[in-house]
Amino acid sequence: MKLTSELKVFNSFGIEANAMSIHIVKNKHSLQKQWLNAKNKQLPVLLLGSGSNILFTENFEGVVIINRIKGIKLTETNKFWHIHAHSGENWHQLIITLLNKGIYGIENLAMIPGCVGSAPIQNIGAYGLEFKDICEYVDILSLKTNKVSRLSANKCKFKYRDSIFKHEYQNTHIIIHVGLILSKTWSPKLKYDIFKKFNPFTVTPQQIFKTVCQARKNKLPDPAIFGNAGSFFKNPIISKKQAKKIKEDFPNCPQYIQSNGKVKLAAGWLIDQCGLKGYELGGAAVHTKQALVLINKNSASQSNIINLAKFLTHTIANRFNIILEPEVRFIGKKGEINAMNCIL
Ligand code: FAD
Ligand code: EPU
Repeated sequence: MKLTSELKVFNSFGIEANAMSIHIVKNKHSLQKQWLNAKNKQLPVLLLGSGSNILFTENFEGVVIINRIKGIKLTETNKFWHIHAHSGENWHQLIITLLNKGIYGIENLAMIPGCVGSAPIQNIGAYGLEFKDICEYVDILSLKTNKVSRLSANKCKFKYRDSIFKHEYQNTHIIIHVGLILSKTWSPKLKYDIFKKFNPFTVTPQQIFKTVCQARKNKLPDPAIFGNAGSFFKNPIISKKQAKKIKEDFPNCPQYIQSNGKVKLAAGWLIDQCGLKGYELGGAAVHTKQALVLINKNSASQSNIINLAKFLTHTIANRFNIILEPEVRFIGKKGEINAMNCIL
């Protein structure tokens, strides 16, 4: 099998890997056509947005489709803006477009790389806002029947870094449009420390946007310089009992109580506590400004990244008795593989 198409520019980790072919699609018809062609040849297919949440663990022995299906439609009612966006739109650009039109409420999610159609999949979140908070619906295309159906937000099973699209619909449907709903009465979300300088009565959406962008530039590596996929692991959610024990042993450990009584810990803090900021393994490294981000520092291979992730998982397990779980999706030669199996 000839694998001559290079995937390096299509994954933000900048990992070298090849596929049989890569097709950039700009409308639903070409997407379906490429999908069907590949399926008729019994080849694996991978649909990507910007490749900012994946790790190729080896060459992909199939067809990669890059979604660039664009279009944004705005409608309004008395109280709300309704945004209907095609899945290949860029997320951050959408936020800028909306801000420029005076449509607010999405600015906390600025600068998250990737496409609009990927946002529901892991229910992207940052600085006190999650995709679920502004989602009205998600339109999905069945690859079997070619039919589009609409899931209202409450049917998407959104959770922390999770949704129905990682489970039931993963191999049978793709996200084709996303519907957002934003109130015309804007209220700032200022829960995070980076906003503490603001007066809630005078702060503007533009100030929040700028503050988020600045905080992200300060902490997160630019994939154009050091390849990365954002947080490599999810923040672990543990029982109240285990959290209490950890707090006794490590009084400075940040803990965030969840609505179900469980407790979320900061995986970056756990890694940092082990003195691993900047730790290098082959060409892979733990980012010096944010220990939850693994970077491609120097032409890292997939096994450099996997071995570093393995080392971190084992170190954290030994020190805190907590098993970290990757947020990044691992893509093997025929499609997604179980990331836990690779790092344990
Ligand atoms: P891809 O990596 O292209 O795809 C991810 C998965 O979704 C793949 O399995 C793919 O097959 C599938 N997929 C893609 N498009 C579709 C579709 N239309 N239908 C069905 N399946 C599809 N995430 C956060 O939540 N918060 C952050 O603050 C954040 N910060 C980041 C910072 C940096 C520097 C980086 C590199 C990443 C960050 N991320 C963050 C992770 C990432 O940006 C998000 O997960 C984003 O939504 C991924 O979009 P993408 O288009 O690149 O997805
Ligand atoms: N911390 C450290 N050392 C570190 C990193 C973090 O001590 O090296 C501490 C911080 O001081 C803070 C806590 O850990 O007390 C949390 O850190 P931070 O606010 O940077 O956020 P995070 O939990 O590491 C999460 C998301 C990010 C999102 C930010 C901002 C996950 C897995 N990650 O990171 O999302 O941008 O909050 O809201 O939930 C992503 O998903 O790819 C991503 C970047």
